[in-house]
Amino acid sequence: MTFSLAHFSDPHLGPLPKGAVLQDFAFKKIIGAASWHMNRKKHHLPQIADALRADILAANPDHVAFTGDLVNISAAAEFDQGLKWLNGFGSSDFVSFTPGNHDAYVKLPLAKGLGKFSNYMTNEIAKDESLPFIRLRRNVALIGIHAACPQLLLGAGGTVGTDQLQKLDTNLQSLRERGFYRLVMIHHPPAPGMTSNIRSLSDASALEAVLKKQGAELVIHGHNHQRNFNEIVSDTTRIPVLGVPSASMAAGSNHPPAAWNRYDIERYKGTWKTHVQIRNWNAEANSFSDGDSFNLEGAS
Ligand SMILES: [Fe+2]
Ligand SMILES: [Fe+2]
Repeated sequence: MTFSLAHFSDPHLGPLPKGAVLQDFAFKKIIGAASWHMNRKKHHLPQIADALRADILAANPDHVAFTGDLVNISAAAEFDQGLKWLNGFGSSDFVSFTPGNHDAYVKLPLAKGLGKFSNYMTNEIAKDESLPFIRLRRNVALIGIHAACPQLLLGAGGTVGTDQLQKLDTNLQSLRERGFYRLVMIHHPPAPGMTSNIRSLSDASALEAVLKKQGAELVIHGHNHQRNFNEIVSDTTRIPVLGVPSASMAAGSNHPPAAWNRYDIERYKGTWKTHVQIRNWNAEANSFSDGDSFNLEGAS
C-alpha cells in the first residue's frame, strides 16, 4: 500500500499585520519589517500560498510535512494569522510542522508564538512535546527536528543541540529496527556545504554524523528557497536530501516560483520505493501543475 506525503516550506505568509513591528519590541524586527516592505512582499504572495494549500488538498495526500518559515518577523499577530492559515489544512493530525528561523526571529514567549503550533508537533512516542517529535503514520515515521532559535542581527542559522542529536540517534536506530521508513524533516539543510555559513546550522557536522551513522530513508528541508537535491553518503547508507522552493514565491524573482513535492512511498519486495512528483506554480495558468517526476535511489 502506498503512503503519500506532501512537502512544502517557507510560505513567509503576508501581509505583515498592522502594528506587528511594535508588538514586543525588538530592534531586529525593524530590520526584518524594512526588508519585507522594500523587497520580500513583492515576491512572497499569500494568494500563491493559498493556491498551494488548495492544490495539496486536491491531491488528497495521506499526510503533509511543513518545514517552517510560516511567518516573517515573529510578531505575535503573525502567529495568529499563520495558525488560521495552517488550520485551513484541517486537522493537526494531518500536518506535521517543524519551525524555521523566521518563526524564531526574535525571542517571544511560547504562548504568543510557536506554542500555538504545538498540536502540529506532538511527539506520539513520548506522548509529550519532547524533540525531535516523532509521528507514526502507517509504516512511515516522521521525525521532526526543531533547530530554530533567535540569531544575531543578520544571522539566519540554527542549532539542533546535543539533546536532540542524542535522541535522534536513539530513535533512528529503534525505528529502523521496528521496520519504519524514517523521514527526517528539518528547516535548515542538514549537512555542511548545503547553504552559506551565515544561514547554516551551527552543528550541521554533528547532525550529518548521526545521519551517516544511523541512516534514514529521506531527509526533507526548506530554508534555501531553492529546489535542492543532495545526498548524505557513508559506508553504510545513502540518504536522499531534498529541499523545496518557497511556497509563496511569485515568478520573476531570483528564486524559483513556488512548488511542493509529493512523495509516494511503498514497501515492495523488501525494499523501499519512493516516487517524487514535483508540483510547480505556473503564473500564466494561475495554478500548480506537474513538473519533473523521478524515483529516489538510496532508500533501503
Ligand atoms: Fe525562508
Ligand atoms: Fe529559513
